[in-house]
Amino acid sequence: MKAVFIERHGGPEELKYGVLPDPAAKRGEVVVDIHAASVNGADWKVRSGESYPQTKFPYVLGRDFSGVVSAVGEGVEDLAVGDEVFAVCDVGQEGAYAEKIAIKASIVARKPASISHVDAAALALAGLTALVSIEDTLKLRAGETILIQGGAGGVASIAIQLAKHIGARVITTASAANHAYLRGIGADQIIDYNVQDFTETVSGCDAVFHTVGGDVTQRSFAVLKPGGRAAFIASGAQAPKPARGEVQSLRPQVGRDRPHLDRIVELVGKGALRVPEITRFPLSEAAAAHKVSQARHFRGKLVLQVR
Ligand SMILES: NC(=O)c1ccc[n+]([C@@H]2O[C@H](COP(=O)([O-])OP(=O)(O)OC[C@H]3O[C@@H](n4cnc5c(N)ncnc54)[C@H](OP(=O)(O)O)[C@@H]3O)[C@@H](O)[C@H]2O)c1
Repeated sequence: MKAVFIERHGGPEELKYGVLPDPAAKRGEVVVDIHAASVNGADWKVRSGESYPQTKFPYVLGRDFSGVVSAVGEGVEDLAVGDEVFAVCDVGQEGAYAEKIAIKASIVARKPASISHVDAAALALAGLTALVSIEDTLKLRAGETILIQGGAGGVASIAIQLAKHIGARVITTASAANHAYLRGIGADQIIDYNVQDFTETVSGCDAVFHTVGGDVTQRSFAVLKPGGRAAFIASGAQAPKPARGEVQSLRPQVGRDRPHLDRIVELVGKGALRVPEITRFPLSEAAAAHKVSQARHFRGKLVLQVR
């Protein structure tokens, strides 16, 4: 199969497009012929070695994808060859920048024909992360106000829509070029963080969802009302310790399972969730996608078209 892999950690130029052996389905697994794979914020950190440094090469990156089942391992009864599916790789597994992947069948979900492979790939990990953060971790409720940091990113684009669907008021931060996009997906108030300090205009929030990291992390606590809660996905594996005592700091535990992916399909089906804006690249141009991802100022999702 064709795949994009690294033979050592380094810059985008270390992403090689070449041929690797096809995977086989072990017991409980399916092989999926991948049509589209998404590029996530974590991928360039894995490529560079900043996160999850690898010792075995060639190493294929990529955490989520959409495609068609092409082989079924022993013991798999609920999926068949020809099924259209999408999935997020198991924690600790990667390999979606490729024409084929073997994956545990129980974490693969059916993709309805109404959602394209490119859209399903864009929704998988970003959607799962947004659902776990907004619904399961922050437990956002109707009538609450949430500040979503970094609104134009893939996870945040979905989180904004989920929060609006729940009935919350959404404040978000983004560069001016992304404000029209964010109004289009439902944000009530948008702050250009380049010219305005959000802590000077926002206060009394029930919740914060923080997808940016860096020095903005600690400042996010300042906008919470007493008893408010903040969830962090870009500030390390542990929730940061707040400078104030009467607020909660949470680190969403984003596991892998089929029900969350089914819920994404359900929300898209009833019109509550639209696919974030997508920029496509051919698989062979994964390095170009990584340059855009690492620069951190694109909108929505980057997707590799594999077939
Ligand atoms: N399981 C998990 O824990 C999990 C899963 C998925 C993602 N993540 C992490 O979550 C983070 C978000 O990932 P992502 O793929 O959604 O997006 P991303 O690629 O990391 O972020 C891109 C967006 O960030 C915005 N941005 C950059 N600096 C900003 C700032 N100071 N304030 C506000 N916005 C800023 C940019 O918008 P502007 O152009 O408007 O600045 C751009 O749209 C990443 O760090 C990723 O590793 C974690």
